[in-house]
Amino acid sequence: MDQLIGSNHANKGDNKMTSMKTALGVIGVMMLAFATWAVAPDLPDISLPAPRMEGGKPLMQALKERQTLRSFSEKKLPLQVVSDLLWAAAGINRQDSGKRTVPSARNLQIVEVYAVMESGAYLYDAKANCLKAVAKGDLRKLTGRQDFVSSAPLNLVFVADYAKMKRTSPEDQMLYSASETGFISQNVYLFCASEGLSTVVRAMVDRKALTKALNLPEQLKIILAQTVGYPKSDGQ
Ligand SMILES: Cc1cc2nc3c(=O)[nH]c(=O)nc-3n(C[C@H](O)[C@H](O)[C@H](O)COP(=O)(O)O)c2cc1C
Repeated sequence: MDQLIGSNHANKGDNKMTSMKTALGVIGVMMLAFATWAVAPDLPDISLPAPRMEGGKPLMQALKERQTLRSFSEKKLPLQVVSDLLWAAAGINRQDSGKRTVPSARNLQIVEVYAVMESGAYLYDAKANCLKAVAKGDLRKLTGRQDFVSSAPLNLVFVADYAKMKRTSPEDQMLYSASETGFISQNVYLFCASEGLSTVVRAMVDRKALTKALNLPEQLKIILAQTVGYPKSDGQ
């Protein structure tokens, strides 16, 4: 009996060890996945100039001029414009709370903005005001199924982090992700109207291919993409 009890305890101990090993293994795999997702070797992060939070067209005029345009010049966007654009899209507008220019269900801040440019793909870090390198190389053509995506200077990709919505029903997960993305996209539209830039939000995205190219782990889901650039008539 003792032996039985002993062996039972030993089994429990073994089981504990096995669960610990499994847990450590899972944490290890998660850390590895995070490391491979968040870091692009040989591609430096880009620190952004402070966003300009003044100026631009009056709101009513920007609303009047908001529109989808699908013709893009290849001309690059200055880093200042990229910074202003990303801040308008989903930057922090209240330092004390870390809340953003975009509303967010339960302030979960589910949607992150990726910037895919000629040099590589980056994650917008609003807090650090920088672009974190995610993947090296020109992945623009993978951001959509329309011709202009490969030559326009910037394709934004809106990505929802489902890990932030663990205690949310599947229906609300979709609702939260889609609505937060919609708000971000509209901010981009209004910024573009104000700055005379072309933009189009896009559902036409090969999510599978782009997820792979960006090394996104399972819980990060691409919702929409949005192309931004100067109108083609501007010098091209
Ligand atoms: C959720 C959503 C997905 C869209 N997907 C695409 C797309 O994949 N490609 C595209 O060219 N336009 C896309 N559009 C842009 C619409 O075609 C455009 O907003 C519509 O024609 C109205 O034009 P407007 O934005 O100038 O008012 C999308 C718009 C929304 C809201």
